[in-house]
Amino acid sequence: MALREILVVPHPVLKQVSVNVDVVDDDLRALMDDMLETMYDAPGIGLAAVQIGVPKRVIVMDLAREGEPPQPRYYVNPEILWASDETAPYEEGCLSVPEIFDEVERPSQVKLRYLNYQGEQVEEDADGLFAVCIQHEMDHLNGVLFIDHLSRLKREQAVKKVKKMVKAA
Ligand code: NI
Repeated sequence: MALREILVVPHPVLKQVSVNVDVVDDDLRALMDDMLETMYDAPGIGLAAVQIGVPKRVIVMDLAREGEPPQPRYYVNPEILWASDETAPYEEGCLSVPEIFDEVERPSQVKLRYLNYQGEQVEEDADGLFAVCIQHEMDHLNGVLFIDHLSRLKREQAVKKVKKMVKAA
């Protein structure tokens, strides 16, 4: 496993639409292992492959609370089969938009279909933080960041702040 560099705004690759994965093989599992290690190191609770510069439809996540054993999750070619009309706000952040947090409103429940680490097709219902996180990560697969859900002013301020931070580092 290896740590990968996480791209931050305004890196153009973050705006790319990721492509579907043909087959879940050892090479893809190696990518998912790297993604998980990079996410834990950041630390974060979700990461899309495009955030380390690989525009494939792959997401890793771990929503375990502090003190709980790790619960790594892997989503390949995820699709949303159903989303609730009911929405809920949540204060989101993103490893590609460091230190910026703002409220985004999304459907509070979704039904998913995806391939897991073994390449098996799984259907799963999501609510709460899981629903927020999977929708945030799936946005990445379409080149959308959580700040794209905010006003233009807030989005421009966020990018400016990150640019300044990167320069100072
Ligand atoms: Ni993100």
